[in-house]
Amino acid sequence: MATEFTASVDIDRRLYRHDIAASLVHANMLHRIGVIDINDLHKIQHGLQEILADIESGTMQWSTTYEDVHMNIEVALTERIGEAGKKLHTARSRNDQVVTDMRLWLRDEIDELSTLLHQAQDALLNVAEREVDTLMPGLTHLQPAQPVSAGHHIMAWHAMLVRDRERLADCRRRTNRSPLGAAALAGSSYPVDRQWTAKELDFEQVIDNSMDAVSDRDFVMEFISMAAMLMVHLSRIAEELILWSSLPFSFIELPDTIATGSSIMPQKKNPDVPELIRGKSARVLGNLMSIMTLMRAQPLTYNRDNQEDKQPLFDTVDTVKSCLTICTHKIFPHMRFNRNLTAAMAEKGYTNATDFADYLVGKGLSFRDAYQVTGQVVKEALAHKKSLDSLPVDQLQSIHPQIGEDVYQFLSLKSVVASRDHIGGTAPAQVRAALARARRNSP
Ligand code: ARG
Repeated sequence: MATEFTASVDIDRRLYRHDIAASLVHANMLHRIGVIDINDLHKIQHGLQEILADIESGTMQWSTTYEDVHMNIEVALTERIGEAGKKLHTARSRNDQVVTDMRLWLRDEIDELSTLLHQAQDALLNVAEREVDTLMPGLTHLQPAQPVSAGHHIMAWHAMLVRDRERLADCRRRTNRSPLGAAALAGSSYPVDRQWTAKELDFEQVIDNSMDAVSDRDFVMEFISMAAMLMVHLSRIAEELILWSSLPFSFIELPDTIATGSSIMPQKKNPDVPELIRGKSARVLGNLMSIMTLMRAQPLTYNRDNQEDKQPLFDTVDTVKSCLTICTHKIFPHMRFNRNLTAAMAEKGYTNATDFADYLVGKGLSFRDAYQVTGQVVKEALAHKKSLDSLPVDQLQSIHPQIGEDVYQFLSLKSVVASRDHIGGTAPAQVRAALARARRNSP
């Protein structure tokens, strides 16, 4: 027999609470439309409550003989209350049952995740606030480009998570729809009240087409897509934490609690936790590939393939939750910037060259000419191993006569950063304004 092969109870028993909740509403509806009498309804209600208690206390006997969570609970119910238990599955199929359970389960997880995302955002806002005046090199191509406020950089991380939370809310809308009553695929020959069961289960609406209702797993694909993008964000953040905390960078210190030593090199402190976040993102991206591939060749309506949708979904939820939680509590609040060093590094690599060119534009040159003159100035500085603002003014004037003493005030690190003073710019005043907006928009 293929019992072991086809069984899913070891995985889908996680749906038990939502399975029982949906069965209670279904039974109630059967009574309302006159399919089961009040005595049977009461028996079913008590029986299911007892089973719920057994499952929560760990005394439920799960068996692969009964395939999945739905059959295990139904068999346990019939053992307990007899004939009435056999009536519960009237006007229902496991095809609408399983997807009802999954939608209810995922809706709860989405709500938890939304809270976790919000907490992670808050933790980032606190870091950003602390580091508004910390200066560091802003990089393009991993090369020093222009100096920025470290708070500004952290706010860019925050912006990623804000979009993730928007996508999550959007995904919730399409998850929160009721397939119940679609039965096997064509609907039921009983006068099922789909609106009523949907309302009782807090679904926003009924899924119109019964064939779509039992076969659609868009909500799973959509959720894992959004989760994959979130994991890409966390992985990029993790990558920066790994780089920044490496000895050659030394931009930040990470707490010992998220690092471990090497078993052979006693001097090492490795950033294991961010590395694992980066590593776990690979599994969630794999889950996305797996659910898409699972769906791509299925003819309507339900096929047993769908049973394989749970592992990627459950694993994605677990992974995302654990990564967010560890970021919020163990990483973000404990990252410490080496402020003097990041400021010193922000000046390396002629990161004020753009400002030098902008100064010349202020003197009437076109940007392209100013760019070219600045190139010569940088060459001169490189040849003398000096920074732009330590070249004497007569040396600068020999390159272009319009350069004056006033150039130096444009070139200091502080004024370079403070000059990006418009919405979304890195001037500390603007970062403070962005922080205030973020706090206002996401109470
Ligand atoms: N264990 C199945 C699943 O997870 C439940 C639905 C079974 N339906 C069926 N027609 N065999 O998809």
